[in-house]
Amino acid sequence: MKILLVGGTGLIGTSLKKELLNKGYEVHILSRRKSEDSKTFLWNNHEDYIDLKAFKGVSGIINLTGANIAEGRWTNKRKEVLYDSRILSTRLLFETIKKNKIELSFFINSSATGYYGTKKSAQIFKENDVSGSDFLAKLCVDWEKEALRFNELNIRTVIIRTGIVLTKSQGALEKMKLPIKFGILPIFGNGKHIFSWIHIDDLISIFINSITNKNFIGTYNAVAPINNTYLEFNNKIAEVLQKKVIPIKTPTFILSLVFGELAETLTNGNKINAEKLTNEGFNFKYKDLDSALSSLLSKKK
Ligand SMILES: NC(=O)c1ccc[n+]([C@@H]2O[C@H](COP(=O)([O-])OP(=O)(O)OC[C@H]3O[C@@H](n4cnc5c(N)ncnc54)[C@H](OP(=O)(O)O)[C@@H]3O)[C@@H](O)[C@H]2O)c1
Repeated sequence: MKILLVGGTGLIGTSLKKELLNKGYEVHILSRRKSEDSKTFLWNNHEDYIDLKAFKGVSGIINLTGANIAEGRWTNKRKEVLYDSRILSTRLLFETIKKNKIELSFFINSSATGYYGTKKSAQIFKENDVSGSDFLAKLCVDWEKEALRFNELNIRTVIIRTGIVLTKSQGALEKMKLPIKFGILPIFGNGKHIFSWIHIDDLISIFINSITNKNFIGTYNAVAPINNTYLEFNNKIAEVLQKKVIPIKTPTFILSLVFGELAETLTNGNKINAEKLTNEGFNFKYKDLDSALSSLLSKKK
């Protein structure tokens, strides 16, 4: 089976491509960047351009495209890039598939748990719960709406609403472990907010399940089943790295100065429910922080 990975050159896409190839799938990549690889095809959402050869023989699409949320201050210009790179790209994919009557069995789109917003709540959020109203929440809502249009074409559509993805290198964990290695534990907000995470191996399995299991339809929260606070998360990194740390509180106004509205996302977070996935028969390999961080930070592996 041939799969088209859109935004397949990034953190998640690189791991997903590797696993798909291991499992015998053929993989096409749609990228803004030229490549020597004959299976990578060009597109540009600003010019409404897609190389149609990308879709040849493809059974389904996994869309992971989008400018990095945590990179840089959220200025109005940056927000526009974050928005257009997701909403306009997904719209272009939809219009192209529709116009060219390209037949697909499935369309799988990434989204984020930022959908539920930064407003403090005791609720444990499920997929059908109401979205938040901050920038990231609205971005996710509009992105998901765009992706769900694939239903109009009778294409099975799945949305993977993802928490922070933990990987061995790059990504959030690499950034978070750096100060801890130097004996500092920076505390954002009061540290008691929830930090929703998922191990990359589990996320990749969720994407592969979404391809193979035709019962996967609609939206799924992709987070580990046990919720942890930001402080628990950081303390566990220190424990696994066997580092003694001095907690240093970072005042919220400094975070706001550096990150703009992104500071809200960094200092807030609510509990997320992963039962829809487990009820569908999905088994997490990394259910708790101990096993996840040991696998990613251990020097032995
Ligand atoms: N990593 C996480 O913790 C996490 C958590 C929740 C949700 N997600 C979402 O999952 C998706 C994949 O995540 P990731 O961590 O793999 O992202 P990533 O490493 O930043 O890569 C995403 C891909 O998007 C494309 N891209 C980047 N800037 C773009 C722009 N301005 N316009 C159009 N395309 C652009 C790039 O592909 P080309 O350069 O090849 O075009 C890039 O490889 C993202 O949408 C992300 O928001 C990620």
